[in-house]
Amino acid sequence: MLIGRKSFGQTADGMTVDQYTVKNQSGTTLKVMTYGASITALEAADKDGLTENIVLGFDSISDYEAHDAYFGATIGRVCNRIANGRFTLDGKSFRLATNNESSHLHGGVKGFDKAIWKADTVPGNYEAGIRFSYSSKDGEEGYPGNLDVTVLYTLNNDNDLRIEYTARTDAKTVVNLTNHVYWNLSGGRSKTIHDHLLHIDADQYLAVDQHSIPTLAKAVKGTAMDFTEAVPVGQRLADFGAEMNDPTGYDHCYVLRQAHGRLASVARVEDPASGRIMEVLTTEPGIQLYTGNFLDGSLASGGHTRYTALCLETQHFPDSPNRPDYPSVELGPGEQYQSKTIFRFRYRISKKLKRI
Ligand code: GAL
Repeated sequence: MLIGRKSFGQTADGMTVDQYTVKNQSGTTLKVMTYGASITALEAADKDGLTENIVLGFDSISDYEAHDAYFGATIGRVCNRIANGRFTLDGKSFRLATNNESSHLHGGVKGFDKAIWKADTVPGNYEAGIRFSYSSKDGEEGYPGNLDVTVLYTLNNDNDLRIEYTARTDAKTVVNLTNHVYWNLSGGRSKTIHDHLLHIDADQYLAVDQHSIPTLAKAVKGTAMDFTEAVPVGQRLADFGAEMNDPTGYDHCYVLRQAHGRLASVARVEDPASGRIMEVLTTEPGIQLYTGNFLDGSLASGGHTRYTALCLETQHFPDSPNRPDYPSVELGPGEQYQSKTIFRFRYRISKKLKRI
């Protein structure tokens, strides 16, 4: 395994950003940077051996600072939305930034995606990676407790990209971490993900109100939300009616079948044109399917338009701090938050499945 490091430039306030490269024996390459502990590239072979980048990213740090799409970033302290930016913990109420209409989104105005993380290399022969760490201060973005977070990215020679999160706090707080990487498995050859075949192992999804806050868990059966059998993502995009969010597209959390806490395969994406296949395994109870509905072709969206790529954000459910009926996102002193997600890459030659 090869590990490299180079400067990715400086932020507007003069902080140096490094990018690390991890390459395995088949040439699959992961690039991550200290700004947001973000994935900047994942280069993987297609069925003809052509290695291409299959995630959205920018070439310069200033573009990352200008964007609002969270390309490849680590999201925290609590990902997704918290209704009205408020929650109570042990009878005490907390107020967070409302940076998405009336909601708190993706950790606030300066979430983990905009922090500069410390990086350590983790060398190895079969697998290697980069461990990022960040200390989020008590009161940062309104959250209680000093929180020490680590995110470990590991690539192995079987083409698994593993992301492991840990966190510890000195006072009771809430934690829900994810990564916001946008996938287009065609490597940019297909301008949209309409033809990507998607399977999600979930019988229910969380319906949302007009602020994208979950209301009730609903059955996917018979609706455009059903991915229990693999279907092209674009096939039913047009079926989204008034009850779904505007702009039209998938932006919903699925209630995974698996018992959470156990690492299990929960989703699979296949791009028939390139033959690339990505399987998603996680310990999390939910997965947010987001089809890039807010990418508007502007510079801040990297020139990308709606449906260019999709995100599969493994997580606890949105608005969990206000939902005692959902699996808890609370973390107390002496406890350790742990979460694991694997993106596993393969490709298909005719009917046979091969490792890259
Ligand atoms: C997603 C979220 C979307 C949107 C997007 C960022 O995780 O579900 O509603 O906020 O991030 O543009």
